[in-house]
Amino acid sequence: MKIRLGFELNGNPVSLEVPAMRRVIDLLREDLKLTGSKEGCGTGECGACSILVDGEVQLACLLLAGQLAGRRVTSIEGLGATQAGASLQQAFVQSGAVQCGYCIPGMEMAALALLTRQPHPSREEIRVALSGNLCRCTGYVKIVDAVAQAAAALPATAAEERVKASP
Ligand code: FES
Ligand code: FES
Repeated sequence: MKIRLGFELNGNPVSLEVPAMRRVIDLLREDLKLTGSKEGCGTGECGACSILVDGEVQLACLLLAGQLAGRRVTSIEGLGATQAGASLQQAFVQSGAVQCGYCIPGMEMAALALLTRQPHPSREEIRVALSGNLCRCTGYVKIVDAVAQAAAALPATAAEERVKASP
């Protein structure tokens, strides 16, 4: 059964017909051609598909399209439109936190959610916030370094920033 689905994606309204049971990761990658969100495990274990829904980290491989109705969704394509997101992108590169890169979109979305609610987290808070995101390459130290570096570059007002970007 198809439904007419409306939601906000990276600051822009989206309206489309989609099977209600379509997974959000497929909706993003296949229907909307937003391939930044990755599918790793497909079963909610790895965090590679992390997106934000109303500012909270959600796993796009476990969400169904109908669950996005009326919600505010941010995918990795919208990350750079926020001050915290742009800071994260720069810090991940500068810290050498990216190796194969497969986990990085999910890592950065989890980090964005953290910095939006807590602009200056401790390293322990960073580790906890990223604990649902698996990386098989880096050993995590440089990823934590990158988030800490991004946080250090942020003014305290970043917590009130709202995502506005084109999908
Ligand atoms: S692909 Fe969604 S948690 Fe692994
Ligand atoms: S950089 Fe390769 S999985 Fe994280």
